[in-house]
Amino acid sequence: MTLEQVRVDSSAPLLSDGTSLSELIDQDFREVSLRVLNDEELYQLELRNIFTRAWTVVAHEDEIPSPGDYVLRWVGEDEVIVSRSDEGEVTVALNVCAHRAAKVCRFEVGQARQFQCPYHGWTFKPDGTFLGAPIGRESMHGLLRPKSELGLRKGRTEVYLGMVFVTFDETAPTLREYLGPMTYYWDMMFGRTESGMTVVGHPQRFTIKSNWKSAAEQFAGDIFHTLSLHRSMQELQLLSSDGPQQEPAMAGVSASYQGHFVRCFDLSEGHYVNALKGKDLANLAPMERLRLMPPPGMEPGMVDQLESRFDAGQLRILAEYTPQVGQLFPNVAGLAMPFQFPDGSVSAFFTWRTWVPKGPDTFELFHWTVVERSASQEFRDTVNLMTSATFGASGFVESDDTDTWPMQTHAARGALGREQKLRYQAVLGETKPDDWPGPGQVYAGFPKDDSQWNFWLRYVDFMSGRPW
Ligand code: FES
Ligand SMILES: [Fe+2]
Repeated sequence: MTLEQVRVDSSAPLLSDGTSLSELIDQDFREVSLRVLNDEELYQLELRNIFTRAWTVVAHEDEIPSPGDYVLRWVGEDEVIVSRSDEGEVTVALNVCAHRAAKVCRFEVGQARQFQCPYHGWTFKPDGTFLGAPIGRESMHGLLRPKSELGLRKGRTEVYLGMVFVTFDETAPTLREYLGPMTYYWDMMFGRTESGMTVVGHPQRFTIKSNWKSAAEQFAGDIFHTLSLHRSMQELQLLSSDGPQQEPAMAGVSASYQGHFVRCFDLSEGHYVNALKGKDLANLAPMERLRLMPPPGMEPGMVDQLESRFDAGQLRILAEYTPQVGQLFPNVAGLAMPFQFPDGSVSAFFTWRTWVPKGPDTFELFHWTVVERSASQEFRDTVNLMTSATFGASGFVESDDTDTWPMQTHAARGALGREQKLRYQAVLGETKPDDWPGPGQVYAGFPKDDSQWNFWLRYVDFMSGRPW
C-alpha cells in the first residue's frame, strides 16, 4: 500500500482560496506567511504530506525491552502501537481496527502478546497481523479479502541511537539515506560509547498552545534567540562563573542537510565552562582536550572509547566544537549540552524531544531524558537533575520557549496578524572553513538564518508532494 502521491507545483493553488505554496513561502524575500502557524487546511495537508511520509521518532527501544512490551505513541494525529515482537524486532502499527476503526489498544504502556478489539473482538498480533474474528465458523471477517489484508496498517521502522523511527511511506528512502551526513554529527552527541545511551523512563509529555512549527523552525537553527530569551542561563552562571555580564556562546559552526540541523559550539571561547579556563588549549591534541573536559554527559573513564568510535576529524570536532543541539526534519530534536551547577561542578543536559501536532494551534511536547548506559548512578542522577531543571515540564529554559511559541500562534489568528511575515533575511550562504572536517552545508561563525531557511525549503518539498 503506498500513499496517494499528491503533487503540486509551488505556484499552483494549494489552499481552497487559491493561495499557493510560493505565496506562503516567498523564496525571493525569504519570508513565510504567518498564516502557516494557524491554518486548519494547511494543517490537514501537513498531516498527510509530512507526517505520514517523513521518518519520525516514536520511542526509545529501552521503553519496550522485552517481547510483548508496548507503548502507544503518535505519528501526526495517528495513534500507533510501538511494540517488541517475540523475535526482538521493534514494530509499529496503526491503532485503528481494520474492521470498523475502534482502538485495539487502550493503555499507554503494557505487555501483550495480542490485542483484541473491544468492539467486535477481532484479534491482532502487536505488529498488526490479523489473527482472527470470534466464532471462526461464521467467518465474520468476510471472504472478499484474504486475512493478510485485514491487519492493522504497519509502518516501516528503524532504530538509530536507540531511538525508534517510523515512516508509513513505502517509497521513502532508508533512514540512513534520509539522515544522510547528519549521522556524522548526531553520532557524536548520542552514539559515543559501545553501550550507548538509555532513557530515564518514559518521556514527559505536556501540551503547548502553539503550532508545532514554532518549535521546529526554532530548533532548525535559531541560536540567536538565546542571547535575549534565554539570558537567564548566563545570569545564573550555568555555563561558567564569569558572571551575568558575559556574552552567551555564539561562536560555532552549523551544519545542515535537507532541513536537518546541528550546531557545534566553539569551546575555545574563553568564557566557556570552567574546566577549560586558563588551559593552553592550542597545544593540546584532541584526545588530551577530551580527557581534560569529557564531552557533556560522559564520565572521565569513558573518554578513551572515543578513539575507536570516531575518525580524526570527529575527534577534533568533539574536542573543539562539540555538537550540542540539532533537529531532524520535521519534528525530532536533540540537546546534549554541558552545564554546570552553581558550585561549579560540571554536568550536562541531555534530551531527545518531538513536537507532536494536535491541531493547527496545539502540539504535545514529548521529552526523553537520556544518559549513558555505562554511567554510574551518581552521574546519571546529576544529568537527570540538570536536564529536569533546564528542559521538560519543570525546565526553566524550556519555559522561556514554551511561553514564546504560543505568542506566534496567537498572532496568526488575527486578521491583521496572519498577514505578517516570519523573516529569514539574515542569510550568509555557506561559509565552510577550509579545515572543517565535517560534511553537509556548513555555516561558520555567528549563527545566521541559513539553516532555518533550509527547514522551510524542505517544508516546501514535502508540502508539494516531492520529498524524494
Ligand atoms: S471495530 Fe474492531 S472488531 Fe469491529
Ligand atoms: Fe530556546
